[in-house]
Amino acid sequence: MPELAYVNGVFGPIAEATVSIEDRGFQFGDGVYEVIVAYDGRLFLLELHMRRLRRSAAAIMLDYDFDEDPLEPIIAEGLRRCEFSDALVYVQLTRGVAPRSHEIPENITPTVVMTFKPLPVVPDELRQRGARMMTTLDTRWANCYVKAIILLPNVIAKNEALRRSYDDAIFVTETGEVRECTAYNLFIAKGGKLTIPPRTESILHGVTQGLLLECAAAIGLKVNEEAFDIATLCAADEVFMSGTTVDALGITSVDDQPIGDGRVGPITRRLYEEFVKRSRAR
Ligand SMILES: Cc1ncc(COP(=O)(O)O)c(C=O)c1O
Repeated sequence: MPELAYVNGVFGPIAEATVSIEDRGFQFGDGVYEVIVAYDGRLFLLELHMRRLRRSAAAIMLDYDFDEDPLEPIIAEGLRRCEFSDALVYVQLTRGVAPRSHEIPENITPTVVMTFKPLPVVPDELRQRGARMMTTLDTRWANCYVKAIILLPNVIAKNEALRRSYDDAIFVTETGEVRECTAYNLFIAKGGKLTIPPRTESILHGVTQGLLLECAAAIGLKVNEEAFDIATLCAADEVFMSGTTVDALGITSVDDQPIGDGRVGPITRRLYEEFVKRSRAR
């Protein structure tokens, strides 16, 4: 029997197994998984793996009904079908298929994927000599300048904001440094000057942000690139966000505190106008 796959109720060869390109696992890394071994046809520590899978799913609010649709019988069936006595079982649950949006739609059905393969054996040579290793900085995932598809933290922050009746969330560090929104960059204006967080590896270097910097220069606005904290953010005259899908969009409150007079300010409006003029002319 060749290596086996299972996708949403159907067993078949791995090469023929497919999921939609709009699956949120593919789009956002919006899913959880387990890897389980079987020795001599018997699943090892299955219960512990299933407990961790439930906990992982609950932590990302992935709504899979483990009691109504238990995975254990499917795993057992796959193991029986593949006939590998020592097997490696991969189990993945994703949020499901939906048009791409950070916002999680209601009534989305999780995708269930499994693979059943022969258990790889650690080579004897390696087992005998032991492994040679190197150290590396733990940057999981600090490289936000990379427009990578591991967007699960962004998805969770966006949906928590929506659940609490906000439009979006602003990421801040443990020390209160302000970074960016879940899919937009941030600008603040104070005393007629703009400030943006430093374009380090910690934020995405927005294409819209770049064009807005040109717009600011064109209308004679100075821009500082400097770290600022939540208090500075809230004390700004104006705050706005930038992104491909919103151009420059005013932010009028943060954590229920109004920014300035609580209305979209003149600098935001002026920059938006300039941006629209330039972007639609290109
Ligand atoms: C985290 C984050 N910041 C900022 C942006 C804005 O970038 P751009 O102006 O290139 O759309 C995005 C866009 O997806 C983003 O995901």
